[in-house]
Amino acid sequence: ADSLRALAARVGLRIGTAVNADQLGTNEKYTQITAQQFSSVTAENAMKWAEVEAVRGTYTFQKADQLVAFAKKNKQLVRGHTLVWHNQLPTWLSADGTTTTLSDDEVKAALKKHIFETMRHFKGDIWQWDVVNEAFDDNGQPRQSIWYKAWGGTGYIADAFRWAHQADPKALLFYNDYNLEFTGVKSDAVYAMVRSLQAQRVPIHGVGFQGHLSTQYGYPDLSNNLERFAALGLKVALTEVDVRTQTKPDAVNEPVNALAPYAQESYWSRTLQACLAVRACISFTPWGFGDAYSWVPGWFTEPQEGAALIYDEQLNPKGQFDVLRQDL
Ligand code: XIL
Repeated sequence: ADSLRALAARVGLRIGTAVNADQLGTNEKYTQITAQQFSSVTAENAMKWAEVEAVRGTYTFQKADQLVAFAKKNKQLVRGHTLVWHNQLPTWLSADGTTTTLSDDEVKAALKKHIFETMRHFKGDIWQWDVVNEAFDDNGQPRQSIWYKAWGGTGYIADAFRWAHQADPKALLFYNDYNLEFTGVKSDAVYAMVRSLQAQRVPIHGVGFQGHLSTQYGYPDLSNNLERFAALGLKVALTEVDVRTQTKPDAVNEPVNALAPYAQESYWSRTLQACLAVRACISFTPWGFGDAYSWVPGWFTEPQEGAALIYDEQLNPKGQFDVLRQDL
C-alpha cells in the first residue's frame, strides 16, 4: 500500500511528524515509520532553547543535527520549532517563563543572540521556522512572559521576525499557536497581530495551527480560520495535530465512550480535508505518530485523555491512519 508521504506528494502536500530524538536511530520500528510515512519532520523538543543552550554560552545541537541529517538522507523537509516561547527555557534565563534574574537589556540581547546562533547553525536546512510560539492566552491577551516584560509590550514579536529573516533569509517564518482552529477572541487577537505586523512590513510568511484537538470540545471552525489567514497572503500549516479522547472513566466526567475512536477518525479526516481545501496550506504535521510516545497522557490528566495519534502503543496503524490514507 502507498505511504502517507507518497499519497501526499501527489497533491503537493508535505505530511510531517514530530520526532522524539531518543527513539530516532535506537527504536528500529519507530525509525522506519518516520522515514517511510512522512515527508517532513519537526523536532519534538531537540531545537528548544532549554535543549540547545542549557548552559549559558554552550550550544549543544547534537540531537537536532542528527534529525536534520536523517531528514536529508530521507528527502524530508524540516520544520524548525521553536525560537521564542515562554516554555522550556534554560533555567539560567527563566525557570517559569515569567520571571528572570536578568535585566531587560540582558533579556533582549539574549533573545537576539539565541535567534542568530540557532538559525545560523541550521541555515539552509530549515523549511519553516516557528519564530514565535504561543504569544497569546486563551482570552486573546498577550502572555505576560519575560519577553513581553522586557520589551514592555508585544514589540518583541516584530523584532524576532526581523532578526530571524536576517539570520536565514530563505526560511519561511511562522507564528504558531493552539486554539486558532476555533473562531473566537484568541484567533481574532492573532489575526489582528498578523495584520499589524504586515502593516509594519515585518517578514512573516505563515501561521501554524497546532491542532491539539479533543473530542470533548467539539470540532472547531478550522476551515474558516485557515481561509481568513490565507486571505492575508500567508501560508498556513497544521503543525502539531493530535486528537485526544478520555481514556479512563471517572466520577465527575463522562464514562469512556466506546464510540470515541469513530469521533477521533472524523476529527482527523476533517482536519486533513480542511488543509487540502486551502491552497496556502502547505503541510500537515501530526505531533508524533505512536500513542506510546505522545505527550497527551502526561499532560491532560483531568479527565485522563490519550489515544491521540494514528498508531497504537505497539506502533500498529489505527483506524485514524487509514482515514488519512483515504483522504489523501
Ligand atoms: C511538548 C512536547 O511534546 C513534550 O515532550 C514536552 O515535554 C512539552 O512540549 N505546544 C508546542 C509543543 O508548541 O512544543 C509542545 O510539545 C506541545 C504544545
